[in-house]
Parts: sequence; C-alpha cells; structure tokens
Amino acid sequence: MTDHNTRTDMLAGRVALVTGAGRGVGAAIAARLAGNGAHVAVNDVHADRAEDVAQELTARGGHAIAAAGDVTDPEAVARIVREIHTSSGSISILVNNAGIPVTGIPLTPFSESDPAEWESMFRLNTFAVMHLCREVIPIMTGLGWGRIITISSDSGRTGEAQMAAYAASKAAGASLMRSLAKELGPSGVTCNSLSLGTIAPDSADSEALASHARRYPVRRLGMPDDVAAAVLWLVSDGGGWTTGQTIPINGGYSTS
Ligand SMILES: NC(=O)c1ccc[n+]([C@@H]2O[C@H](COP(=O)([O-])OP(=O)(O)OC[C@H]3O[C@@H](n4cnc5c(N)ncnc54)[C@H](O)[C@@H]3O)[C@@H](O)[C@H]2O)c1
Repeated sequence: MTDHNTRTDMLAGRVALVTGAGRGVGAAIAARLAGNGAHVAVNDVHADRAEDVAQELTARGGHAIAAAGDVTDPEAVARIVREIHTSSGSISILVNNAGIPVTGIPLTPFSESDPAEWESMFRLNTFAVMHLCREVIPIMTGLGWGRIITISSDSGRTGEAQMAAYAASKAAGASLMRSLAKELGPSGVTCNSLSLGTIAPDSADSEALASHARRYPVRRLGMPDDVAAAVLWLVSDGGGWTTGQTIPINGGYSTS
C-alpha cells in the first residue's frame, strides 16, 4: 500500500465502507479515503487482511476499523453494516470493490461454461452489490448525502471473449448504479461505476506485463492508486454532479 503524504481533512465526518479492501485496489482506495479524513471500515472475506490494512491505516494516523465478512452472504452484509453504523454513527460512502482480478479468471469458451460459474460470478459482482446497497441506502437517504461507487471492468463495458460470465456480472453491477442514480439523485445520493482496464498485479512476469501494456495508449498498466484517485474525486464535493456514469479508468484503452 502506497502512503500518500498529501493528507487533507476534506472527508472529515464521512464514514466509508470499502469491500474487498484487504489488498490490491480496495486497500489503495481505503488508504486514500483514510488519508483524507474519512473513517474507513475495511471489509474483506479474509479477516487477517482486513485487520492488517485497518492497523496500517491507523498507524499512519487515519481512522480505520476492520469489518470482515463475505459480502455474498446477505446476513453477513446486514451485520457488517449494522456494526459500522453502531460504532461510527453513519455510513455515507460505499465502495463495492470486492471481486476477482480479471487476470485471475480462467478463460472458458461460452459453450463450455458451467452454470455454477455464472451463479458464483453474479453472486459476487451483482447480488453482493445489491445487498450492500439495500442496507446502506436508507442510512444515506436519512443523511441526505451519499456516494456509492462500484468497481466494474472494461470486460463488462465492451464484452470479453471466453469470460462471458465475468463480463455480464460486472455489466449488471454497473447497470444497477445507473438505475439507482435515477432513483436516488433527489435524495442527495450519487451512484457511479468505474470501468477498469488491467491493473498491474503485484507479482508477474515483467515481459508479459510490458507486452500487455502496449495495448494501452499510455503504455502502462493501471496501478491501484489510479483507481483510488478517481474514487477520491467522486466522493469529493466536486464529484457531486456526476451520477449514473460508468467511467473508464483504463489508460485510454478502446476496442475500436
Ligand atoms: N486487477 C484488475 O486487472 C482488474 C480489472 C478490472 C476490474 N477489476 C476489479 O477490481 C476489483 C479489485 O480487484 P483487485 O485486482 O484489487 O483484486 P484482489 O484479488 O487483489 O483483491 C480483491 C479482494 O477482495 C476480497 N474478496 C473477494 N471476494 C470477497 C467477498 N465475497 N467478500 C469480501 N471480500 C472479498 C479478496 O479477499 C481480496 O482481498 C474487483 O472488483 C475486480 O473485479 C480488477
């Protein structure tokens, strides 16, 4: 996790729940929010990862708690939200980040794909987002202010051969943001998704990475902090007029 020395209190008084924040993109988002004054609940299905990140953010002077649990389990989601609400008094930012990196998904031709794989992808990338939104929206509308951001993928926006289940489930999560934006705009709650290109994994063959990076006009893969910077803008006051959007964070990648 990179430590960004530029710290502000622009998010003072905001309480954020970041799912899947025990490593990778989610950990960078949690760090960026905590570094700018938010109280951050660090969720992960791996409790040790959530604890480690929360402790590191606290050691750096931020306010963070671990909120372990499996976001595909509606009862766990209800418990997580209840515990954060009780300990912190509100939840005004939700970042739906828990998921699987695109590089971790085996390529499977559609005709060979297993319906069980489809169910598991939709449980994680769509239903978990729905369960979390159901729990936090009443809190946010009560505050008259909220930000919901779902981390989606270029696969969902443009389609992806041999990854149809992942792509469709990510597209559904982004679509949910567009519908909720229309319902919740009058209540002060914005809902957007970020469509990520490939984020450089921590460990990978540098030759393969360099070759992959050539697909991108900026000639590099994304870093978790590229995503965290976009989240910070969306949750800032300056992001308040942006809702219902699927924003590519992808180094200019395009299929055309
Ligand atoms: N890495 C990429 O290239 C890439 C590209 C496009 C989209 N994305 C999306 O970005 C998000 C973050 O990806 P990443 O690369 O940081 O992945 P990562 O595997 O490094 O981190 C994801 C974290 O989510 C947690 N998690 C998984 N299932 C969970 C569950 N059911 N409940 C709670 N936590 C859970 C994992 O334990 C892990 O710590 C994901 O939604 C992914 O689909 C990633």
